[in-house]
Amino acid sequence: MSAPEIEIDLFSPTADPYPVFDALRDNSPVHWSPRYRSWFVTRFDDVSAALRDPRFSADRITPYVEAKLSGPDTDPALRQTFAVLEDWMVFKDPPDHTRLRRLLRRAFTPRTIEALRPRVGELADELLDGIAGNGSADLIGEYAYPLTAAVIAEMLGVPREDRDLFKDWSDAITALVFAGLGSPERHERAVRGMLELRDYLTDLAAQVTAHPRDDLLTALVQARDEGDALSHDEVVSTGVLLLFAGHETTTNLIGNGLLALLRHPDQRALLEAGEVRIVSAIEEFLRYDGPAKTVVRLMATDVELRGHTLKAGSRVFLCPPSANRDPAVFPDPGRLDLTRTENQHVGFGFGLHYCLGAPLARLEGGIAIPRALQRLTDLRLAPDAELTWQPVLLSRGLTALPVQFGATSEGDR
Ligand code: HEM
Repeated sequence: MSAPEIEIDLFSPTADPYPVFDALRDNSPVHWSPRYRSWFVTRFDDVSAALRDPRFSADRITPYVEAKLSGPDTDPALRQTFAVLEDWMVFKDPPDHTRLRRLLRRAFTPRTIEALRPRVGELADELLDGIAGNGSADLIGEYAYPLTAAVIAEMLGVPREDRDLFKDWSDAITALVFAGLGSPERHERAVRGMLELRDYLTDLAAQVTAHPRDDLLTALVQARDEGDALSHDEVVSTGVLLLFAGHETTTNLIGNGLLALLRHPDQRALLEAGEVRIVSAIEEFLRYDGPAKTVVRLMATDVELRGHTLKAGSRVFLCPPSANRDPAVFPDPGRLDLTRTENQHVGFGFGLHYCLGAPLARLEGGIAIPRALQRLTDLRLAPDAELTWQPVLLSRGLTALPVQFGATSEGDR
């Protein structure tokens, strides 16, 4: 069976990916792309089945390291960078994944997350205080990003004065992990950023081991499961993972959610009138335009799917945004409908690797979005706004969200 020609460009800063996903889902739901040298899987049933299927392996780091980074000429900095990634649970299969996830769950409990509610509100208000009098702002750079970065940095126990360092490091890792690497300079910066962050967290982990505190890094150091514990390197790598996973995606939930509301005044009115609950609205933002553009797997063995053989070793992009707009599951899927009740989307993945930070992301989004609407009166997109999207494959997020609003004084809070 020859595949129809469908031009896939998931790096474009301006092109809308949804028509491409619609075309793939309708015409070629398991599609080989010569450009990406990968399979694209776009229907809800196939994506959710693959996310539960151990033949779709999450470990795409070990084969890369073995093939590309094991020779005598390998740059030691690059090798060390990948050593950090090799310990990330999101890149592991059972039984290693099971062990890491169990230990991490001990540190990252629903109670720890819920306890953050007042602090997230305070941090959001601090940032809104800073912009409310200005009449215009970029809600990614001045609100969503610093908010989610501050939340995860505080959780990990990073002192306030070191936060800016975190932004640089995190940007560098985004380039590395989200496959947006362009020039050799960016690559070099990514490697340097990763190793600086590793060294920083190594020092911090040593401090909390000697003097335990009430923070997530201490909880990682102390996590125990039937006599098992995280190794020193695993604590540091997991700290890097949480820092990274903890704010890049949540920034995009806040940004994409606010954009969806600004473009759909009827839905915004429902939310502002209290006719829909913010918890349902957040699920709809995740379904309608969620931050996870693709989830990558490597075939552990040959698998037959819809008449194609996905050969062992081949790469597969599972596409949550497409699955989440599958008309077989979601009626009128292209419509933002905050009143949707059946909304079992795969925006946080599914199965073994289901997002561990989902309760935190929901909490942050559920505070940040309504607070911005409440504090920034008459909030609207800047009339000259030319929205662009980050040119990365794995994540869907705006580079900036320029808005205008009625300038208010702090006393209006
Ligand atoms: C809206 C925000 C978020 C989205 C859309 C999101 C999305 C995802 C997705 C799709 C996966 C599955 C990846 C896979 O199957 O390969 C995942 C896993 C994960 N996420 Fe999130 N995430 C978000 C926020 C967070 C936050 C706030 C944290 C932590 C602070 C976090 C930590 C993790 C971790 C540790 C995993 C790996 C779980 C595992 O491998 O078992 N995420 N996330």
